[in-house]
Amino acid sequence: MTIGSKHQPLIIGHRGAKGSAPENTLAAFALAFEQGAEAIELDVQESADGELIVCHDATVDRTTNGKGRIAELTVAELQKLDAGGWYHERFAGEKLPTLAEVFELVPVEYMINVEIKCPFSERLFVRLKELLEQYDRLQSVVVSSFNHKLLQELKQRLPELKAGLLYEANFTQHRKMAEGSGIGVFSLHPQFRLIGAEDVKDALAHGLQVYPYTINELTDLQRAVEAGVSGIITDYPDRLKRLLAGE
Ligand code: G3P
Ligand code: CA
Repeated sequence: MTIGSKHQPLIIGHRGAKGSAPENTLAAFALAFEQGAEAIELDVQESADGELIVCHDATVDRTTNGKGRIAELTVAELQKLDAGGWYHERFAGEKLPTLAEVFELVPVEYMINVEIKCPFSERLFVRLKELLEQYDRLQSVVVSSFNHKLLQELKQRLPELKAGLLYEANFTQHRKMAEGSGIGVFSLHPQFRLIGAEDVKDALAHGLQVYPYTINELTDLQRAVEAGVSGIITDYPDRLKRLLAGE
């Protein structure tokens, strides 16, 4: 399994193939791999009964036919909702997946970047660890978050976890912060406009993977490839695949 240390960047489908399917659904993840992705990124929230639900927002309002906060709904209630029809009628009937369902769908060789959007809790940690162990995913999952304290809490409890630092501020500062934090960071996930080739070189030299988000335009994709990043998080895995193939 390769999760980024190679000459060409890893193609990471953002929320699956968000540009061509309803984000964070099993259909979007399957399509990402069909389009040439070698990894996927997804977002995780926690349901009222402690299940890990794949959804970007704290509410279901934007991406389903329902309303309400995920933290106040049970997994049974959440999975009755249609998470695909809002995007296009051919996706009607797609559900909000659980993280377990994604782990079942995606072969273990493929990297999954799990971004935690909900607050830290012991219950969250216990369920995440249980799933990583049950599906043998400790090596092929990178858990990222903008909440660096949350990453620290997870790493303290599970040191072998691969942690990815998401951020929108100065790249070099964050590389240093990643080193100084004691979190034992595996990867940096900068907003793509923050990176330059020297920054990337510096991070790689310090043993960090660099996975910028979310790059969709050809010129920006090209720039990231030239900067030597380890992977690119994109809504259009097919676009990046063609670029890397020289098409
Ligand atoms: O993980 C990278 C990217 O997904 C972070 O932003 O808002 O799309 O979750 P967002
Ligand atoms: Ca995300």
